[in-house]
Amino acid sequence: MKSPTIKKQFLPLTISPEEERIISVMGNCAKELKVEAYLVGGYVRDQVLKRPSKDIDVTVVGSGIGFAEYVANKVIPHPSLAVYKNFGTALLKHEDFEVEFVGARKESYRSYSRKPLVEDGTLQEDLSRRDFTMNAMAVSLNEGDYGMLLDAFGGLNDISQRTIRTPLDPDITFSDDPLRMMRAIRFASQLNFRIEANTFAAISKNKERISIISQERIADELNKIIASKKPSIGFDLLFKSGLLKIIFPEFEKLYGVQHLEGKGHKDNFYHTLQVLDNVADRSDDLWLRWAAVLHDIAKPDTKRFEKGHGWTFHGHEVVGARKVATIFRKFHLPLNEKLQFVQKMVLLHLRPISLSKEQVTDSAIRRLLFEAGDAIDSLMILCESDITSKNETKVRRYLQNFQLVREKMLEVEAKDQMRNWQPPITGEVIMKTFNQPPGRSIGTIKDAVREAILDGVIANNYEEAFKFMLERGAALGWKPATEN
Ligand code: CTP
Repeated sequence: MKSPTIKKQFLPLTISPEEERIISVMGNCAKELKVEAYLVGGYVRDQVLKRPSKDIDVTVVGSGIGFAEYVANKVIPHPSLAVYKNFGTALLKHEDFEVEFVGARKESYRSYSRKPLVEDGTLQEDLSRRDFTMNAMAVSLNEGDYGMLLDAFGGLNDISQRTIRTPLDPDITFSDDPLRMMRAIRFASQLNFRIEANTFAAISKNKERISIISQERIADELNKIIASKKPSIGFDLLFKSGLLKIIFPEFEKLYGVQHLEGKGHKDNFYHTLQVLDNVADRSDDLWLRWAAVLHDIAKPDTKRFEKGHGWTFHGHEVVGARKVATIFRKFHLPLNEKLQFVQKMVLLHLRPISLSKEQVTDSAIRRLLFEAGDAIDSLMILCESDITSKNETKVRRYLQNFQLVREKMLEVEAKDQMRNWQPPITGEVIMKTFNQPPGRSIGTIKDAVREAILDGVIANNYEEAFKFMLERGAALGWKPATEN
């Protein structure tokens, strides 16, 4: 291939003394072995961006493994070294950072590929087959130009212009590895960069190729978009490129506004993105951010037009909570308490809003605290983020109402301690008291006691609950065991 002129300039590294020591050992090893070694990839990009990372990537023109073994031997005390022969890579772990070694490759750089990439190449060839110009720079560890940044594809300029661009024709870069289409959008979202027009057009053109990528890898990138400072940037680009419709059609369906009899509803896609950004401003919790993504996911399924009234989405929170599980399964997201948390958020997301509109009763608050448990603070964040009206007076009024709900919650909590509350009467107590075997009636009485407490019919203490239980048992013709 024709070599572009490589721009060289000194790059001062922001690194710990220990990283500096290892990097300088690598420089000496390169000299002793007479091989070329370079810092490359995300590590160099992050140094330029002044957001130092703990993963150092090293490319060696020759054997990455051989170089890594030599280096590991020179560092005292010896760090741990894992060698992956099939991939031609080695991973050195030292203190709080990791160094990954690989030989320069001629073909596309696919760090995850199950297929070993055997063809050795020059540094130039290796860099050209990487994803973006900002990830295709190297810092030399070699005598003569030690510490110099080698920038063959204008990565430095692209970083200063906050631009994501492929080093080669984007059709080649994306067909080498279609996951890069999502990486482009993920970096745009994380770094608040724009994607250069040709690069973006190639994403739209090659979008169907994403189907060869595993759901786990897609979900990894989605999670990184969701975790970024302003996740709407990423989702908007996914939508505009056409990728969203392929990878996450349930979400794409939220887009659009329908009008009937002069009445329209809001665009639930852009509303959801606004809610997501609002949550992102208030919380770093990835799962609460997922709850924002999914809170209205069933609106398209439950949309109805009621004559004379307008658009309704009755029950979207219940249908939505069910859909969460399907979506988590599809993306291989954890099917544990994270899923339960997101389901709970989706199911309850309208509750504080309705409370803030009504006269807030103690029993409604008690019930919400009981159902939300420890997730109540997250639920309040989601609900406050769900206010996306353009009318500032309205927003202020809603937020004030929420403040009242919060104050009332504190009062009720201080009185009744409903968070993680367990009703005082257990099934055991009921069976023992009436000398009854397990059965449906035991559950019915237990539930009735719980409901009576939540509704404020009886006080939240053992004595009142026990008395209430005796009455319910008596209604079934049961007598306490001692009277039998
Ligand atoms: N790379 C690539 N194509 C991919 C994945 C990675 O060209 N699909 C190259 C890029 O040069 C990248 C480097 O491999 O910089 C290291 O990849 P990785 O560690 O996955 O990503 P980073 O760029 O370091 O960024 P992040 O850690 O945020 O994923």
